[in-house]
Amino acid sequence: MSKTKKPAKPARNLRDFLDAVAEWDPGSILRVKEPIALDYDMTAMAMELERRGQSPVLWFEKVGNSPFPVVANVFGNRKRYAFALGVEEAELFDAWGRVGDKLYTPELVKKGPILDNVLTGADVDLNRLPIPRHFAEDGGPYITNGIVVAKDPDTGVRNASFHRMQLKGPNILGTSLHSRRHLWTYARRAQELGQNLPVAVLIGCHPLLSFGSGLWKGPISTDEYEVAGGFFGEPLKIAMGPMGKVEIPIECEIALEGTIIVGERFPEGPFAEFTGYASERSTEHALKIDSILYRNNAIFQDIVPGISDEHTMLLAIPQEARLLGTLRQHNPNVTAVAYPKSGTCRLHVYVSVRDPAPGQVRNIGAVTLGDDLSVKLVVIVDDDVDVTSDFDVMWAMATRMQADTDMDVLRNAMGAVLDPSNNQGTTAKLIIDATRKTKPFPARHTLPEDAVARVQAMIAKYKPSP
Ligand SMILES: Cc1cc2nc3c(=O)[nH]c(=O)nc-3n(C[C@H](O)[C@H](O)[C@H](O)COP(=O)(O)O)c2cc1C
Repeated sequence: MSKTKKPAKPARNLRDFLDAVAEWDPGSILRVKEPIALDYDMTAMAMELERRGQSPVLWFEKVGNSPFPVVANVFGNRKRYAFALGVEEAELFDAWGRVGDKLYTPELVKKGPILDNVLTGADVDLNRLPIPRHFAEDGGPYITNGIVVAKDPDTGVRNASFHRMQLKGPNILGTSLHSRRHLWTYARRAQELGQNLPVAVLIGCHPLLSFGSGLWKGPISTDEYEVAGGFFGEPLKIAMGPMGKVEIPIECEIALEGTIIVGERFPEGPFAEFTGYASERSTEHALKIDSILYRNNAIFQDIVPGISDEHTMLLAIPQEARLLGTLRQHNPNVTAVAYPKSGTCRLHVYVSVRDPAPGQVRNIGAVTLGDDLSVKLVVIVDDDVDVTSDFDVMWAMATRMQADTDMDVLRNAMGAVLDPSNNQGTTAKLIIDATRKTKPFPARHTLPEDAVARVQAMIAKYKPSP
């Protein structure tokens, strides 16, 4: 199924979205009916399918002793991002920018499905939830699909971001704010005021809510529930839970209310990170949980962590959409960007540009490094090179660049804390100009299109083995 189309019904929650996906492309949801172990096996299944080039949503109906089914790998395939936005895959980045620029004030309501079941006091036991262990080296079970929502202690503006959360006790989670972005800033501001930071944790939302809140990277002054409204094209409906501090979108499957204890450190990790390593690096924040809310027949959503397609695609797609927009503001001839998986979808970027003006390639490289602190390598290529292909980019480097004149190194810059090769948070940054420098430049060899079509028909008849 290659065509995407608008979901037939207005899906505003995870379950309706999954129904719409099942209707659109039935093969892209794998319902596992037989019992599966809580620890490791769900991740093992996702990784095994990934190895075989398959990326269905995995819907585990019976997980360990849990009454909650678990859904994983919702974000493991680019075509589902486009489907959620109701566009073709080729239009994904433009659509992302378009809806991300719109804001809708959320609507506060008194009732909603998330209030179906509310556990407080002695009933709060996180062990009720199917929180799995994912990889052998992990320090414990982890919530990998938790969107942490908090309010700026100074302004009240809401921020939402994904954070790994380790199960440490019936009402304690350990987390890390290593991205050093807005939640980290909020925690610091709360500490300066001598306060802790109230949060809501959302588990299992419509993908547009995840895109517009958890993955959206804009100014700290923008309320991310308002951005999520932009992604939906209407105000997000929110309600207060029993703690009454941070509003919760009423269509979420599961939500937790709690507090980040800002002044204390709580051992957390190791955790299988997007780098492909069991990461020991953590800001060691503790989250004390005061209430658990879930709708009737709630689905627990998991994100396959580590260097899985799901985890790395969640990092790549929002960054690609954002970087393309930023670069095009001053360089309209930038044709494409890609965060390749070989660079963990975070540390390396490929950018293609049409007929760059003298010096423009360096400017593009500098803007890319400035836009995203995690990036260590930017390779800029001509627009005939496919930035989604490592082979094509390496081929351009092999045939269009010279190491003495086409590389620039910036030393001792701020980098990704999770990069195991960094030096106390600093890394070197490399810009490689792999565009053609001389004119005329040899033409790439090609085949006539009609010859390709003729042999494709022949090959289909002979069906050679792979
Ligand atoms: C699945 C997933 C897990 C993540 N886990 C963490 C984490 O544990 N700690 C962290 O600081 N950032 C984590 N991130 C990155 C932040 O969520 C991301 O940078 C976010 O956009 C920051 O939001 P903000 O710009 O609103 O601050 C994770 C991202 C994803 C997609």
